[in-house]
Amino acid sequence: MPAPYLASSLITQDQIQDRIVEIAAEIERDSPGDGLIHLVCVLKGGFMFLADLVRAMGDRVTLDFMAVSSYGKNTKTSGEVRLLKDLDQSIEGRDVVIVEDIVDTGLTLTYLQEILRARAPGRLRTACLLSKPTRRLVNVQVDYVGFDIDDQFVVGYGLDYAEQYRNLPYIAMLDDGGA
Ligand code: PRP
Repeated sequence: MPAPYLASSLITQDQIQDRIVEIAAEIERDSPGDGLIHLVCVLKGGFMFLADLVRAMGDRVTLDFMAVSSYGKNTKTSGEVRLLKDLDQSIEGRDVVIVEDIVDTGLTLTYLQEILRARAPGRLRTACLLSKPTRRLVNVQVDYVGFDIDDQFVVGYGLDYAEQYRNLPYIAMLDDGGA
C-alpha cells in the first residue's frame, strides 16, 4: 500500500486559533475569582493545544504534563492505559483541567479522569480540541470541545501518523492514494 499523503485541510490554522481563544475564555469564566487554574497536558498529542491554550489565558495558569500510551491494539477497547510519565506535582484541592488533543472511544480519557479524581482535586474539568462522537464507547464527560469531527483519520496540530505530521499548524486528513 502506498504511503498515505496529506489530503485537504479539515480545520484551518485560523479556525483552530479562533476556537482556542473562545475555549480559553470559557475556562477562565467558569473559574471565577483569582484562584489558579492547573492545566494537565496529556502527551504527546496535547502539546500544541496546550501551548496555544495557555498563551490565550491570563496569569492564573499553572501547568503539568503526563504521558500515557495504550497497551496496544488488542487492549485499546479495554481502555487499559500505561502511565509513561506521571505528574510532577500533587493536584489535591486544585482546579484541574485535563488538556487532550482528541477524544475518540473515550476510554483513555475515562481512565485518566479516574486516576486523577482519586487524587482529590478540588475540581476536574476536561478540554479536548477534537471529538469523534460517533466513535464513543463510553459516556465520558468533556467540558470543552473545540470541534466535533466525523470518523476519519486526521493528523496535524499534535496528532500523528507514525509520529509524523504532529507539527502541522492545522488539522488535515490523510489520503491513501486510492489503495
Ligand atoms: C490519542 C489521543 C488520546 C487517545 C484518544 O492518543 O491523544 O489520548 O488517543 O483515544 P480514545 O478516546 O479512543 O481512548 P495516542 O494513543 O494516539 O497517543 P499520542 O497522543 O501520544 O499520539
